Amino acid sequence: MQTGLGIDIGGSGIKAALVDVGTGELLAKRVRLPTPQPSTPAAVAETVAEVCAMVLAKQPDVAPRAAGATFPAVVRGGVTLSAANVDKAWIGEQAEARLSEVLARPVRLLNDADAAGLAEVGFGAARDVAGVVLVLTLGTGIGSALFIDGELVPNTELGHLEFRGHDSVEDWVSDRARQAESLSWKRYGRRLDAYLHHLERLFSPRLIVLGGGISKHFEQKMAPRLSLETSVTAAALRNDAGIVGAAWYAHHHV
Ligand code: BGC
Repeated sequence: MQTGLGIDIGGSGIKAALVDVGTGELLAKRVRLPTPQPSTPAAVAETVAEVCAMVLAKQPDVAPRAAGATFPAVVRGGVTLSAANVDKAWIGEQAEARLSEVLARPVRLLNDADAAGLAEVGFGAARDVAGVVLVLTLGTGIGSALFIDGELVPNTELGHLEFRGHDSVEDWVSDRARQAESLSWKRYGRRLDAYLHHLERLFSPRLIVLGGGISKHFEQKMAPRLSLETSVTAAALRNDAGIVGAAWYAHHHV
């Protein structure tokens, strides 16, 4: 078995687990600690090290070569370039180098939605789907991952499209917006449908995959309110997608 360490850095929690990178399955239940506030690079790196130490202590016989980590912002060449829902000190941070140092092993860092998308394409709802596939994560923000024949176009940031008078559409359609405005599923569904129609016009995808915590309501509450030509489906890996995608990515890029 080939094993990787996957880490999901989010605005509220930092989670990690060992992953079988051949099957996309977790070796054991993930470990989670709250994200320190303020979520500065030094504080987050310390918590990442703590979570990983807990994971590795549970399985001392497993020694993953590399670790993959997700981050909820633009990541290029190991540097974090934006910070919509985390401390602004991350902008321009050599994040991959910092994490590699605290974990004492090579780390590959990528955008959280890109990692979740890689997991869905490799092991989940978009497995073996050719052509253009769009994976969206609906949570505090909206993350996006765009694929063509399984190849990722990183950092598409489609949650920051300007739409219906909002500078960032995520302020209007994210799960945070749904909760903050106490939107009914009917009203939320209408917003989501409008946003997805816009993306359909822009990209003509073969498939749209919806992830994030809200996707557990997909069949009952969301699907009946969508009127797209494009097939839309719920993510298969749910909460573990980021961890799995990051571990897989690091395994293949170190
Ligand atoms: C960030 C993205 C991220 C998404 C989901 C957005 O605000 O700009 O990089 O993927 O939130 O966390």
